[in-house]
Formats: sequence, structure tokens, C-alpha cells
Amino acid sequence: MTNNISLSFAVQKDAVALNLFDREAHKQMKWWGIRSKSEYQKLLTKGTRHRVILARHKSRLIGYLYARMKKKGRLWIEDVYVLPDYRKRRVAKTMLTKSLSIWKDIQSASLLTPNKNIKIFNKMGFKRVMNYMSLTLKKGQK
Ligand SMILES: CC(C)(COP(=O)(O)OP(=O)(O)OC[C@H]1O[C@@H](n2cnc3c(N)ncnc32)[C@H](O)[C@@H]1OP(=O)(O)O)[C@@H](O)C(=O)NCCC(=O)NCCS
Repeated sequence: MTNNISLSFAVQKDAVALNLFDREAHKQMKWWGIRSKSEYQKLLTKGTRHRVILARHKSRLIGYLYARMKKKGRLWIEDVYVLPDYRKRRVAKTMLTKSLSIWKDIQSASLLTPNKNIKIFNKMGFKRVMNYMSLTLKKGQK
């Protein structure tokens, strides 16, 4: 990973920055759900089964990964996002490695992602196991 990029675990005071970050992400990716500041505050106090890792370049937030540990050692990666200018520098991969390293009972890690990201996650060791399908209805259509 590039010099001057550091990783840390998010704490409650990072909720504002994470919410702003989500808003930026949503501008590029309409499927991306925006979590409010209070939703972030809540999840950051949920305990050790919920972890948000932040990547910063100097002091600027440039990426984050939110993972929660489900039953039987199954880690669910809720979000992983890196600012466009910082992509392909192994920021996501390094956040994933850090995330995998903190749980002793981990058996697997899973996430949902658009098809265009499949190659990227393959490079991180993930295998595609399912297809997500969606039907968009026009207003009034049933
Ligand atoms: C998906 C995403 C998080 C990847 O972040 P990133 O920091 O660029 O990923 P990394 O640099 O760690 O990439 C891991 C590997 O994939 C490669 N890679 C990254 N982007 C790539 C691309 N667009 N095309 C081909 N390979 C790519 C990297 O070079 C690296 O390979 P290497 O280990 O051989 O060097 C980032 O593109 C992103 O934020 N996308 C928008 C949000 C999103 O779609 N999130 C996922 C849904 S939850």
C-alpha cells in the first residue's frame, strides 16, 4: 500500500465523516445506501462483532470497510469503499487483511458486489457463489 496511508478502527466521533463519505459514494453509485450519522453512531457502539476500518492518507479519509461477524464465524462485509483517486493501490486489500486478522473464530468472509468488481474480489481470494437478481417496477406497475 502507498506510503502515508494508515489504517485504524473507527470510533464514535468518526460517524460524521463516515456519513459524508457515504454521501460522496452514493453520487457515483446509486445502489449505494447512505447510512445516517446516527446509524453510524449506533453501529460503532454495537460492540466487537461490528468493526469499521478506516484508511487515511495523512489525515484525509480515503476509504473504509465495515464488517460484522455473524454466527458460526461467518464474516459479512457490509461495505468497502475507496475514493477513486486511491484505487488500485491495495487499500481495499489491506483493509480486508486487517479485518480478517482480528477475529479468532473466523471461518469465511462474504459480500455482495456488482459484476464489474468480480475480478477485483477474485484477486483478494473471493469466489463467486451466487447471482443477485432484481426486478425494477415502474410506478403503478404490479
Ligand atoms: C472495489 C474497491 C473497494 C476496490 O478498492 P481498491 O483499493 O482499488 O482495491 P485493491 O487495490 O486492494 O485491489 C485488489 C486487487 O484488484 C486489482 N484491481 C483493483 N481495481 C481494479 C480494476 N478496476 N480492474 C482490475 N483490477 C483491479 C488491484 O490491482 C489488486 O490486484 P493486485 O493484488 O494484483 O495488485 C473500489 O474499486 C471501490 O471503492 N469501488 C466502489 C465501491 C464498491 O463497488 N465497493 C464494493 C461493493 S461492497
